[in-house]
Amino acid sequence: MTTRDYRRRKVGGRRLRPETQMMSYGYDPFLSEGAVKPPVFLTSTFAFRTAEEGASFFDSMRTDGASDAGLIYSRFNHPNLEIAEDRLALFDEGEGAAVFSSGMAAITSSLLAFVRPGDVVLHSQPLYGGTETLLTSSLASLGLGAVGVSDGVSRGAVDDAVGRALGRGRVPVIFVETPANPTNALVDFALIAAAADAIATHQGLRPITICDNTLLGPVFQKPLRHGIDVSVYSLTKYIGGHSDLVAGAAIGAAEPIRQIRRTRSAFGSQLDPHSSWMIGRSLETVTLRMERAAASASRLAAWLADHDAVATVYHPDTLVGGDYRAVFERQCEGGGSTFSFAIRGGREEAFRLLNALQLFKLAVSLGGTESLACHPASTTHSGVPAEVRDRVGVNDALIRVSVGLEDPDDLVADLGDALAASRRP
Ligand SMILES: Cc1ncc(COP(=O)(O)O)c(C=O)c1O
Repeated sequence: MTTRDYRRRKVGGRRLRPETQMMSYGYDPFLSEGAVKPPVFLTSTFAFRTAEEGASFFDSMRTDGASDAGLIYSRFNHPNLEIAEDRLALFDEGEGAAVFSSGMAAITSSLLAFVRPGDVVLHSQPLYGGTETLLTSSLASLGLGAVGVSDGVSRGAVDDAVGRALGRGRVPVIFVETPANPTNALVDFALIAAAADAIATHQGLRPITICDNTLLGPVFQKPLRHGIDVSVYSLTKYIGGHSDLVAGAAIGAAEPIRQIRRTRSAFGSQLDPHSSWMIGRSLETVTLRMERAAASASRLAAWLADHDAVATVYHPDTLVGGDYRAVFERQCEGGGSTFSFAIRGGREEAFRLLNALQLFKLAVSLGGTESLACHPASTTHSGVPAEVRDRVGVNDALIRVSVGLEDPDDLVADLGDALAASRRP
């Protein structure tokens, strides 16, 4: 499917930006009748020219997890999946990528590729509710332990969690989500790399470090540049970007991606051709969408921070305490457009506000063209134990917004009306 010409990274001696490459990288129109956009390859299996070719494709698939094997069977690889993977790897500066049928499929395979019963996963908190449930319920029932870091920018908190995790078993994976959904809490990548080194000294195996980069990547944060081994995504969010598909990805160095891809092939959680094609379509505009939405979100966050019905705004522009700012400036290039705010009051006031919104739709998920609002404590994070929710600030007064591409002044007007309504019983 791919040719050297369509993997070109330089023109006129200039290293091309990913935004330029998203229009063509990994696809040669002249292998498909000159079609400027790739066709959707609706086929479950691929013909081998000879029996020997089939045997060699399978050999290569067994050793490298299908990264360089010829096309075999659409559970292992298919052209639309490979185009999406090549472009994601390029954008996030990895050597390879594996694309999945959901963000949770990407996270599950990325963990299961490296753990065995009795192991412990060290992780940041808060995590997306589904990831928290995966670790503390589904994987716990398979004999996997989980130890949370209470503050990802504090060396003391990270060291304390490392000690507790090592006390319980082998630690093959450190999993972080930064910024965290829904509070924008950060994890310092430098502290995580140091923790991985300390664990390696203790147990003789350096844990794989994995970052859920859904909220800022690939435009505003590149974890692989900061020593993280694997970036994982819910592509459903900003990269898909139109709230019309569910998908996920893992991106990183060749070796961990090979292992993750093998796990994916065994479980059968690859993405289908049509949704893979849509990911390619969406990558063409991801920078434009994320930059515009982030500018609007900054404007809304500043406006909310001045509103007397609002207690706290959890947006990177307004979170300044402790080491937050220094870590943000070291590893992020923008604040993104998903953030939360706590209103004065509790669940009753929060629900009145949500019910009064006219432009923001009441829905979970984030990163689409339309603005969304939700109440994390009763929806996305309702499966997280109340004690953890309270500790990480996901309480009844918290509202999460994902700011879309509408006119920001219209969004301010909508929030203004809804905040006024929240105060009228
Ligand atoms: C930060 C984060 N990670 C992972 C996921 C899971 O992704 P998916 O719903 O595509 O499985 C979500 C979904 O909301 C999320 O917000």
